[in-house]
Amino acid sequence: MDVFVVEGNATISGSVGIVGAKNSVLPILAASLLTSEPLELENVPALADVATMLGILSELGSDVQRDVAKARLSICSAATIEPTAPWELVRKMRASFEVLGPLLGRTGRARVSFPGGCVFGLRPVDVHLKGLVALGANVRQEGGYVIAEAPRGGLRGAEIFLGTPFGSSVGATRNVMMAAVLAHGRTVLQGAACEPEIVDLTECLVKMGARIEGAGSPTIEIEGAGDRAALGGASHRVIPDRIEAGTFLVAGALLDGRVRVEGCRPGHLASLCDAFSRAGVALERGEDWLEVQPRGGEPLRPTDVTTQPYPGFPTDLQAQWMALMCRAEGVSVVTERIYSDRYMHLAELLRLGARIRREGATAVVEGTPTLSGASVMASDLRASAALVLAALAASGETEIHRVYHIDRGYERIEERFRGLGATIRREQR
Ligand code: UD1
Repeated sequence: MDVFVVEGNATISGSVGIVGAKNSVLPILAASLLTSEPLELENVPALADVATMLGILSELGSDVQRDVAKARLSICSAATIEPTAPWELVRKMRASFEVLGPLLGRTGRARVSFPGGCVFGLRPVDVHLKGLVALGANVRQEGGYVIAEAPRGGLRGAEIFLGTPFGSSVGATRNVMMAAVLAHGRTVLQGAACEPEIVDLTECLVKMGARIEGAGSPTIEIEGAGDRAALGGASHRVIPDRIEAGTFLVAGALLDGRVRVEGCRPGHLASLCDAFSRAGVALERGEDWLEVQPRGGEPLRPTDVTTQPYPGFPTDLQAQWMALMCRAEGVSVVTERIYSDRYMHLAELLRLGARIRREGATAVVEGTPTLSGASVMASDLRASAALVLAALAASGETEIHRVYHIDRGYERIEERFRGLGATIRREQR
């Protein structure tokens, strides 16, 4: 298994280009199941999760042509689709559950393994299933699989509320939307997730011929085609990854370097920019870039940050922000409202000398000038990114084990940090 060896007390500066968004490309790949014509995608990141999704789609019968160096691919789900997504593949990645809606819409039947738990909590799929039932699907559970069948005559549009006690569900919004585009009649999704990745998927679906309005707001209206063969091929460029951009910006702030992220959408990072301003970190911005400015001797100020659905502070940047607050002058409060158990990074940050106390869904972080290198264990994707940041700021060397978690969602992160002047080696142990 690969290990990162990170030299601490790092200084970084320079520019880094942002790759396509993981959380956009995965559902867009699932959407390719909605048509028998090819879907051409640009800005496809080289991530382990993308390989997993392509593995599942190949298993379902899709044909994939990929040029990794050019970040392009063409995927074609021709007439015969196998409607079963097996556990061996689905268990690796929760987003693979999002093949359920498109499979059901296109073939009238889907058998998809339950995604299972994950390190930061239960992560149910009840709202996904509620939405499909509202469209008229018969949904049952059997041997760890969800089996969904459209009624005779096909799925029918409906009015569906998709909220959860923790905010709207991104995955459920996408799954139900993808089933509804081929249904008969109009579907109105209330309490829909507003994330930019929902808008990106919608833009791709519209290019394929779907009729959808309101994406990016809590009410999405879909005029179903009423014909399983209605959608066609399309070309689409995946939006840049706002979480990756945010991670590099937080690294710049933590190491007090001038770091520019290029090819991003600054408007997708408003809540992070606001948190930076409260922390005393200045940013410059252009149309498609953001740059963290060095503080010139000014301290990093402590902040209160609460994760929320978009456009609130993203849960996917909570761990990285906590790493930053470990170096603030004073006491910060971080509250996790989406996944109350998403604190796997906390114990590992403590090993690096951080001072953090958890009270339920809240973590109280006392800033300290001294973090020191140690061996730590990556536990999930974003927690691992936080460990890379903290390791770069600590004194001495840190070994980060199980970096396959990082490879799921960051493209060659160590090479890109090296490009900014950091020393990170990947070793096979
Ligand atoms: C997506 C993102 C993930 C991000 C998360 C929240 C992808 C591939 N993943 O995950 O990176 O952290 O949004 O922004 O895009 N819930 C239910 N019932 C359901 C579904 C969800 O109670 O049926 C709850 C979840 O447990 C969680 C909240 O709703 O507390 C939001 O989850 P959701 O938006 O569905 O997350 P994902 O789509 O899985």
